[in-house]
Parts: sequence; C-alpha cells; structure tokens
Amino acid sequence: MANKKILVTGGTGFIGSHTVVELQQNGYDVIIVDNLSNSSIDVLDYIAKISGIMPAFEQFDLADGKLTAGFFNRNNNIDGIIHFAAFKAVGESMAKPLDYYRNNLQSLINLLEGMKTHAISNMVFSSSCTVYGQPDELPVTEKAPIKPAWSPYGNTKQMCEEILRFVTHSHPVHAIALRYFNPIGAHDSALIGELPLGVPNNLVPFITQTAIGKRECLSVFGNDYNTSDGTAVRDYIHVVDIAKAHVIAVERMLGGRSKSELEIFNLGTGTGYSVLDVINSFERVSGEKLNYKIVPRRPGDVEMVWADTRFANDELGWKAEKSLDEMMSSAWKWEKALVTRPV
Ligand code: UFG
Repeated sequence: MANKKILVTGGTGFIGSHTVVELQQNGYDVIIVDNLSNSSIDVLDYIAKISGIMPAFEQFDLADGKLTAGFFNRNNNIDGIIHFAAFKAVGESMAKPLDYYRNNLQSLINLLEGMKTHAISNMVFSSSCTVYGQPDELPVTEKAPIKPAWSPYGNTKQMCEEILRFVTHSHPVHAIALRYFNPIGAHDSALIGELPLGVPNNLVPFITQTAIGKRECLSVFGNDYNTSDGTAVRDYIHVVDIAKAHVIAVERMLGGRSKSELEIFNLGTGTGYSVLDVINSFERVSGEKLNYKIVPRRPGDVEMVWADTRFANDELGWKAEKSLDEMMSSAWKWEKALVTRPV
C-alpha cells in the first residue's frame, strides 16, 4: 500500500522541520508548503540528511487563495494536513495586528476551502498556551476558560480554534488543535533547530546566542513575580517531544479514532521552570557562565503557566520524555553547530 501523504505547512520552520523528520521516520510521505518568510530553503537538505528522504516542497503564500487552490488541484492525493505556517511573534503582532489577522486567519481559511473541495478530512492545527492568558488555576487544563487575548497573535490562535470548531461541525472535517507550551531545544543531530531572524525574542535562543558571543548580555525580565525565585515560570518542552505528538495526532485521525470533530490537547511537560532555573540548567550542561542581568518585567508577560497534561497522556498515549537539561544541552549543541556552517 502507498504511504499516506501529509501536507506540512510551515515545514521548514522550527517545529515544522522536526515534525517532518518524525513523519518520514514513521513511513509518511511529506509535502511541505512554506513561503520561507521566516525560514531557509537549506532546511530541506538538513531534513534529508537526517531522514535520508528529501521532502517534496512548494514555495508560496497560503494566504493567497488562488495559489492555494492551484496547489490542491495539482496535489489531489493528500491524506492529511499539519498546519504550522503562521506569524508567531507576540511583540510584532502588537505593532502589526492586521498583518497577523490577515496572514494567520486567511491561510487557515484557504486550507479549509481546499480540504472541502478535495475531500481531505484531517487537520492538525498549531495552537498555543497563549490562548489561556494568565489562567486562574494551575496546572491549566484544556477546559480552562479562554480569556480576552493579550496580543493579536494570541487572538489569531483563539480565532483559528473557533473557526475550526464551526467548520468541523458543518463539514466532514476533523481537526486536532495542539496547544504548545514553550517549545525549545533542537534535534539530537544538531542539523535542525530554531533559527531566529535578528535579535531573538525568546529566552533560550537568547541564552545560547549570549553564551556563544553573538549577544553581550541576557536581560532577565523581572525578578519580582510571585514565584519561588521571583522570575516568571513557563512549561518548557523539547521540540522533538512536540513533533512526536503530531505524528500521533495524525495517526489518530487517519485511524478514525477521534472522539469528536475538534479535539484539543495541551502539549507540555506538566512542570514549570523559572527563568533562573533555565539559566542554571544551561550553565550546568554547557559548563559556560552566562552573562545576565535583571531588568524590569516585559510588558504582556504572564507570571506563570504550566500544563495539565493528563488529557494528552491518557487520550493520545503521549508523554513528553526529555528533561530540561536535555533541552538545554541540545539547544547548546545546535548553537555551536551553527558556528561552523553557513546559515
Ligand atoms: N525572557 C527573559 N529574557 C529574554 C527573553 C525571555 O527573561 O530575553 C523570559 C520571559 O519574560 C518569560 C520567559 O523568559 O518569562 C519565556 O519567554 P519566551 O519569550 O521564551 O516565551 P513566552 O512564554 O513569552 O512566549 C511563548 C511563545 C509564544 C506564545 C507564548 C504563550 O514564544 O509564541 O509562549 O505564553 F504565545
């Protein structure tokens, strides 16, 4: 029997590239669509180096309805879609809200149109713990109320989940939305990882870039939170653990095991770590001393959030396996590998 074929949008990005590798290693054929707005074409070669298989690739913008319809007309053998392609920078979304709404909503709508026209019945959607804001209760479960968004980025994730709720109800389409907590780390091979353009917004790339000498000093945003050491707490999760959950979600839908049209799962480890915990872990595994200073809080940051993972553990049979130290050592290995290769 022919392999199942999965369209991975945003497949050259951070989580997308790791998921493509896991899919290939589990016997799926992959076709990537990416506009390369925040990733590099070279990622395809690195994926092929790991898996031994070059994924099919098309470069275009999924927010363009005509191009997306044309893609589905040319590729009428797709069994399922994993939709990563989206803008994802919280701060940028505050400055350019319309870009975020146009890009993130329009590409989902165009994909759903294609699914309807070509009877493709399964989508895994990249959602985020940002939909919870600062939850009233921790750990946060999937049933926690969705509060007003803190950013246009977060709002697009909430709106996309709502679009999926109604569309999966009216059309023969199933979706699984995976709410990621804080994905970090890189593939063990150090051939793929996070490639932030310019100055990183996120903690871990900033740590590794500071340690390697690309940045002078890490600013720790606030040490006056109501947490054990005063710095903010997040649920950091290894990107390969996240990638593996996508393969399980695809298998669940293709195997007809979904229990409702739209299922939603938290993807976290269930453990919260403070910014200082992350720095300590980095120093421990790398043997490097990190240059950092405490500065005021970053506007828009929540104090603490970590996942209740029981629903994903029980229903998907998935559990995050990698420790914080493993996450940090893989991120460091990746940063060091970048020194010796053209990016
Ligand atoms: N932090 C610093 N210094 C930095 C960068 C981050 O102290 O230079 C701190 C932040 O204040 C926060 C923690 O490190 O307490 C994690 O920050 P990140 O920017 O790495 O991650 P966030 O939790 O802010 O954001 C992530 C994703 C978003 C998602 C959000 C949901 O990047 O896409 O989680 O909470 F929306």
